[in-house]
Amino acid sequence: MKAIIPAAGYGTRFLPATKVVPKELLPVGAKPAIQWIVEEALAAGADEVVIVTSPDKPALRRHFSVEPIWHERLRNKPEIDAAISHVEALSRKIRFVDQMEQRGLGHAVLQAASLFKGTSEPILILLGDALVNSPVPCAQEMASVARQIAPDASWVGVERVPRDQVYRYGVVAGTHLPENDRVLRLTGLVEKPAVADAPSDLVIAGRYLLQPAIFTWLQSQKPGTGGEIQLTDAILRSMADTPVYAYRYPGKRHDIGRPEGYLKTLNEWGCVEG
Ligand code: G1P
Repeated sequence: MKAIIPAAGYGTRFLPATKVVPKELLPVGAKPAIQWIVEEALAAGADEVVIVTSPDKPALRRHFSVEPIWHERLRNKPEIDAAISHVEALSRKIRFVDQMEQRGLGHAVLQAASLFKGTSEPILILLGDALVNSPVPCAQEMASVARQIAPDASWVGVERVPRDQVYRYGVVAGTHLPENDRVLRLTGLVEKPAVADAPSDLVIAGRYLLQPAIFTWLQSQKPGTGGEIQLTDAILRSMADTPVYAYRYPGKRHDIGRPEGYLKTLNEWGCVEG
């Protein structure tokens, strides 16, 4: 299985902090946020991670690169040197593609399409600004539930939010499975609805496991909310030939893409070692 981490956005909700430092590189403990997400993807069984980024964010590529000078500098500090070697090992599993224009999340995912030619396995997508604190890494748990219940379907990770917050998210509609109250078979998805029109308080929370046909749906996807090509809209259209399920994962999502979410993350994530 391969994973995609969309990480091309300009981080406008977090300027000026993100003018030079991409939001995905903001530290959470001793690791940048995106490193936690790469590790989550690998724990879920991904053997390659495609990071969709932008030439305006060169530091992302630099974090995941091999720079022998670090081993010289850390000659007498084996523990820290091991942390650098670990990042280098991750780097060998990472490929980068660029999104040259900011045309939405669906468009970002589409930029990775050429690396998935001939893939029959589902694709794990983890948003680069969402960290999930959970007993079992979120993507791993969702992939395992998907394998047990409906391996040929597409899946989205969801969480419950206060009703008045749903307008910030993709919102799902569906029916709970009697055998597992964390799983819904979806009948619809809508991107950033008005609170009054939202079909539920369950929102798409930054983790997806999608069948590869999603690329075909994305190719013909017209702009939606905010004039952007929305992944949510393509998933909705893919329901014409692929069932879509939602998994309400245990655990807590942290939005590091805005200052208040980031500060909360630092308080609640604490200094998790990993
Ligand atoms: C994106 C998705 C949305 C999802 C959200 C989770 O929106 O389009 O469906 O609920 O991430 O963070 P964004 O926050 O990029 O506007």
